[in-house]
Amino acid sequence: MARKIAFINYKGGVGKTSLLVNVAASLAKLGKRVLICDFDTQSNASIWLLRLDRWNKINATGAGAVFSIFDPGEQSVKDIVVKDVVLNKTGEPVLPGLDIVPTTFNLVDLENEYRGDPSRPHYVVFRDQLAEIEGNYDFILFDCPPNILRASQCGIFCANEIYVPANPDALSLIGFTLLVEKLGKFHQLSASFRNGAQGHPARVEGIIFNSIKTGVDIDVPRMRMQLRLNQYRSAKRVSPIAKLFNQQVRDAMVVRRAVTLGLPVALVNASADGSGEKTVIDDYHGVANELIRHGDSLVA
Ligand SMILES: Nc1ncnc2c1ncn2[C@@H]1O[C@H](COP(=O)(O)OP(=O)(O)OP(=O)(O)O)[C@@H](O)[C@H]1O
Ligand SMILES: [Mg+2]
Repeated sequence: MARKIAFINYKGGVGKTSLLVNVAASLAKLGKRVLICDFDTQSNASIWLLRLDRWNKINATGAGAVFSIFDPGEQSVKDIVVKDVVLNKTGEPVLPGLDIVPTTFNLVDLENEYRGDPSRPHYVVFRDQLAEIEGNYDFILFDCPPNILRASQCGIFCANEIYVPANPDALSLIGFTLLVEKLGKFHQLSASFRNGAQGHPARVEGIIFNSIKTGVDIDVPRMRMQLRLNQYRSAKRVSPIAKLFNQQVRDAMVVRRAVTLGLPVALVNASADGSGEKTVIDDYHGVANELIRHGDSLVA
């Protein structure tokens, strides 16, 4: 059964999308079948992996974007999956096993304009359609904006695990705190719509520090985060085995460059960027492996 995982923090710009895409690439390189579902109307993951030319075509009409499953509702999740999304310059797949459900800017209409059937909220529509293809994957990863509004709710409702990318600063800690508050409220709101096949509602399983600059001591931010996590564990507001990941991801220029190139960092030619990139690739592999190992300890 696919592990369904959301990457979210109520703090923006901490590296949710870059971590998700690069960890997804590491998982695919390890032979896992991975589906990314992009629930951020900014479309960062979609533009990155499809590159502008392919993404523009979807954005022009909205056909093939995730909002089309809600309005006009003629497409289903299985119809809009872009298989083996990462292509080289000549259009050949270079990372088989990494698929995406893309979004375009029209996803913002889910927040206000969309009037669905109140007895079947948007996240239920998505869950039921996702269920048709879940068996094709080992990991389904939901990229979310820094909130739990309607678009995010689709991912949060389907996920069982949440990982919280964080920077070593006070605002990331506040973002994590706010996330746990809002998560509890959303689970209450959506509880009556859950079914047995879904497993338990998503809970925080891990915090991953990202963008760590060389030579910067982050012992204090790690300790503060660990203390908050311990409090939440005692209060049963996060997973009983929620952990601060040992592996953290360094700050590296190639992470920003990879977006421009339309590739996960692991596929950026090492010689193209001078030094540094090899090590950040190792960081992403380390996070992917820690994520896999954490799965062995998950409790029902
Ligand atoms: N390890 C890193 N090293 C260098 N730059 C990074 C790293 N991680 C992320 N970045 C850069 O930081 C910026 C924000 O990252 P990203 O878009 O992944 O954050 P986000 O949390 O998804 O943001 P949002 O809240 O807008 O969705 C991007 O320009 C990205 O390339
Ligand atoms: Mg993002």
